[in-house]
Amino acid sequence: PAKAGMKDFLHISDFDKATIMKILDRAAEVKAVIKSGDRAFLPFKGKTMAMIFAKPSMRTRVSFETGFFLLGGHAIYLGPDDIQMGKREETRDVARVLSSYNDIIMARVFAHQNLVKDILDLAKHATVPVINGLTDYNHPCQIIADALTMIEHVGRLEGTKVVYVGDGNNIVHSWLLLAAVIPFHFVCACPKGFEPDAKTVQKAQQAGISKIEITNDPQEAVRGADVVYSDVWASMGQKEEAAHRRQVFQGFQVDENLMKLAGPKAYFMHCLPAERGVEVTDGVIEAPNSIVFPQAENRMHAQNAIMLHALGL
Ligand code: CP
Ligand code: NVA
Repeated sequence: PAKAGMKDFLHISDFDKATIMKILDRAAEVKAVIKSGDRAFLPFKGKTMAMIFAKPSMRTRVSFETGFFLLGGHAIYLGPDDIQMGKREETRDVARVLSSYNDIIMARVFAHQNLVKDILDLAKHATVPVINGLTDYNHPCQIIADALTMIEHVGRLEGTKVVYVGDGNNIVHSWLLLAAVIPFHFVCACPKGFEPDAKTVQKAQQAGISKIEITNDPQEAVRGADVVYSDVWASMGQKEEAAHRRQVFQGFQVDENLMKLAGPKAYFMHCLPAERGVEVTDGVIEAPNSIVFPQAENRMHAQNAIMLHALGL
């Protein structure tokens, strides 16, 4: 096999519970090393990573590049104008050329399936591991960072209640795919017509381990939540729909009243970037129970563990 001992990281549900828990434990362990100031752990020494970005990014770009460097490697940033995967050159050619220079590839792209600019195509033709840094369909690295943050703040992930309020987007799909692997209660409260992909909901339900609810009533949904989670109403690639979505999503803003309904134990999470005053109020982001910044920090630690796993280290 082309990738003997190495693994792509494309969807959470490609892994079993033991592997996800192992990645989370490793993330905590390597985080402690990095936070202690110890710079002697260099598993990526002599290794290089190509990072393909077809979309903008702050967290993903900086956390991958910094994390790979801190563990001894060198990462190369390729922005939207550089490779133009599927446009300047076919994805299968990009995959093979980058594999000949680099030990690992990270990609943030638009399409996920059935299109030329396709992360699945990239992974298929690459001979090194491919890590999904967000597609229109999902964002698995984000959800591993979120799980790590919940373990640190809530104390656990298993058995918790996570209530996502907003658009049934790529973040929701990754939560659903996590719920197919680890048991917890996941609720997505979204306006009618903005539900997550039905097949992905079905996959999470059919796994039969988590309670999955899709609802149009955020007030009812948030009661007893351990985490209330929000994301932008218009994702990258949908920005021209932003004005229309602001109308449709009235009532889905996470504000102080909604957090009060959630109850005293509820933390607020958001993958960021946030549009303050749109999907979430400034007050909710700045409140003591908001853990959005520890959550953002954990992107780096989660991804370090994902890359160690992908490279079989
Ligand atoms: N959360 C996240 O992926 O942020 P960026 O778009 O800044 O990478
Ligand atoms: N749903 C958002 C997440 C950004 C990290 C987007 O795709 O733009």
